[in-house]
Amino acid sequence: MSIMVDLTVEIAGLKFRNPILPAAGPPVRDGIRIKKCIEGGAGGIVTKTISIKAADPLIPRPHMAEVRGGFLNTELWSELPPEVWAEKELKIAREATRAAGIPLIVSLGYRADEISKLVEMFDEYADAYELSVHYIGRDPTPMMEAVKAAKKTGKPVFLKLSPHPGIDYVEWAKKAIEAGADGISAINSFGPVLALDLSTPLPDYMLKGLPVMGGPDGTGWLSGSALKYLALKIVFDLYKAMPNVPMLGVGGISTGRDAMEMIMVGANAVQVCTAAILYGLNIFSKIVKQLKALMEKMGFDSIKELRGYTHKIWKKRYIRYISTPPKYYPEKCTGCKLCEISCPYDAIVVVNGKAVLYKDKCFGCGVCVTRCRFGALEIEW
Ligand SMILES: Cc1cc2nc3c(=O)[nH]c(=O)nc-3n(C[C@H](O)[C@H](O)[C@H](O)COP(=O)(O)O)c2cc1C
Repeated sequence: MSIMVDLTVEIAGLKFRNPILPAAGPPVRDGIRIKKCIEGGAGGIVTKTISIKAADPLIPRPHMAEVRGGFLNTELWSELPPEVWAEKELKIAREATRAAGIPLIVSLGYRADEISKLVEMFDEYADAYELSVHYIGRDPTPMMEAVKAAKKTGKPVFLKLSPHPGIDYVEWAKKAIEAGADGISAINSFGPVLALDLSTPLPDYMLKGLPVMGGPDGTGWLSGSALKYLALKIVFDLYKAMPNVPMLGVGGISTGRDAMEMIMVGANAVQVCTAAILYGLNIFSKIVKQLKALMEKMGFDSIKELRGYTHKIWKKRYIRYISTPPKYYPEKCTGCKLCEISCPYDAIVVVNGKAVLYKDKCFGCGVCVTRCRFGALEIEW
């Protein structure tokens, strides 16, 4: 019997039709694209980060690149000035979000005095604000001041954390809540990182091997699949430290399974940027569909039930430090050899088209189970 899955979520008093939202970035760079995200199934809207000045003359080109396993960018905040957002883009966004009955979260940067000016310009449109801290440095005080400035509107405020190396993100999240934030968005892109271009068919072959990003040092910010596991860890830690604080999980989500993992570690809803750039603005309804099917299959009937599930079952996790060879189902083995290639202990060898497991050599590392594409190997708990 199939169960009815409820995908609606309420976060800080905002009602979302589903938990898959766009994250601040090119997919929500103006009113028209925001409208397309809504048509593409987004459960609510977060705009591109708007700051007091347009970013346009400051962005080096090229500034976006798909790399193996991820994505690099050197985009700053919106290349449109706040006046254009107030006069045009947010009007379109407001109309479209109202028609769909979904919340409009306006992303703002960066310091308190700037935030105060921006909320005055945008308050007739915004249901809530998300504040980026990407460029405000390592002292949390300006972040707290910015939160207080946005909170003067009385609307929900989400603080978006950047995973800058060495930053104590749990401490930052606690300080944001102390300053009045209603929730945390985690995480922004990671970096700076470097990727090289060996393939562009430039006339001068000497240019091959230069960084893919066009900026002065060639570095960029990493997003997409490569970021997912850092984002999961940070959201996991945040939920552990503050389970009652609403959380928007961001980083490397492109499928229903990714979204499910992010909600299981503690997010109430998720945001998607890179996958919307790579696969188009219909990605939201695709992820929603996959998430719904997965929840049905696994027997979860609401996002509320799914949220933090990993933490709830954590105590049942069986921890061992001795070798336990995997279970092996020879009827499922195709003899593809992925297990044999990856086993560092030579404990699994394909003979006559079937894997043979040498239990005395097996260290119990588990890699063969994750390499098998046919379910022929299984961790024995
Ligand atoms: C091209 C690009 C531009 C971005 N611009 C912003 C921005 O203006 N404000 C912001 O808070 N995050 C920005 N981000 C970060 C994303 O919102 C998101 O936090 C990050 O990319 C991780 O999610 P993803 O893996 O789904 O892209 C940008 C990301 C990309 C790739």
